[in-house]
Amino acid sequence: MKKESIGIALLGFGNVGSGTYRVLEENAALISKRVGADVCVRAILVRDLNKERSVHAPAELFTDDFEAILGNPDIHIVAELMGGVEPAVTYMERALASGRHVVSANKEALARFGGSLTERSQELGLMLRYEAAVCGAIPVMNAISTALGANEITRIQGILNGTTNYILTRMGEEGAPYAQVLKQAQDLGFAEADPTADVEGHDAANKLSLLIAAAFGDTISPDNIDCTGITGVTKDDLDAAAASGETIKLIATADKENGMLRASVRPVPLPSENPLARVRNEFNAVLISCNMADDIFLQGRGAGPLPTGSAVAGDLLEIAACIVRETAGRALPTRRLP
Ligand code: NAP
Ligand code: HSE
Repeated sequence: MKKESIGIALLGFGNVGSGTYRVLEENAALISKRVGADVCVRAILVRDLNKERSVHAPAELFTDDFEAILGNPDIHIVAELMGGVEPAVTYMERALASGRHVVSANKEALARFGGSLTERSQELGLMLRYEAAVCGAIPVMNAISTALGANEITRIQGILNGTTNYILTRMGEEGAPYAQVLKQAQDLGFAEADPTADVEGHDAANKLSLLIAAAFGDTISPDNIDCTGITGVTKDDLDAAAASGETIKLIATADKENGMLRASVRPVPLPSENPLARVRNEFNAVLISCNMADDIFLQGRGAGPLPTGSAVAGDLLEIAACIVRETAGRALPTRRLP
């Protein structure tokens, strides 16, 4: 049965949830035209119904009851934008079990439970998409799984965390104190609810494990990725690197040679001719080495409400268009998850 409007539930209305809402509202006309139906937010799950929100949405959309969302027959897609492992994973499982397609921006949950969620979605003929989980607005998961799908990928190297790149840029260029810049990254909506995951490199490791699964088909737990964050990087280190014409960046690298996968996240001094050295502030970038297409360099905003909302909305649109065309769940699975 063709649908005239596609109903969305947003689980979470923080940085990403509110950014996604704004993208869907402010670009509603073009989205409706592209999908062939209106794409409407019909419910928003939050923890605290009394919290003041900087983005306005009608009060009747808000609920703190996940069961009410599952019970609403006009919701077709659930977007999990809460963060953390639980109850996010259980909510995604339950959304799938109830016949809803799922979109998520939650790299922590996907890096650990994405494989079983993918299997479940495929068993049920439903779609699970997560472009926003890796590098915010940069369409890197789409690039790897579709446009570069005919290539063998040999290496991935990137700046996968916006918060740490913002901190290193501001500390290095302006001498701004670490704690002050971290606070600004939090205020701008780049950082995780607990920024330890950012500054210790775990967020980049989660994203790297998702990239590895998509690019190499290998499962690696983020816990098994050799990981060092930026908390040990001082202004003196940044200045010493600059004096040698280098810039220190938090670099995630994965390569596969003779069947051997190597993966790491660590601060690396890069010479100025390396394109990653010139990626500043919350921008992310990924250099993908392919056996046919050669090197591909993708760059864009890796964090923040609207860039991330753009990626979430892109996944919602794709699923909505499939629902309208009655092809949802029949598309070949082109992405792998650990
Ligand atoms: P956030 O600002 O902390 O927002 C989280 C939202 O989820 C809040 O609205 C919160 O409700 C709600 N929530 C949390 N736990 C809940 C629960 N148990 N039940 C109901 N609602 C709950 O987080 P965020 O920055 O938007 O990040 C969300 C997800 O996107 C995370 O997985 C993060 O890693 C990922 N992500 C973030 C970015 C970014 O730039 N920030 C980019 C890419 C991906 P209240 O508002 O009532 O507290
Ligand atoms: N905290 C993350 C970052 C959000 O700073 O990159 C985007 O995934």
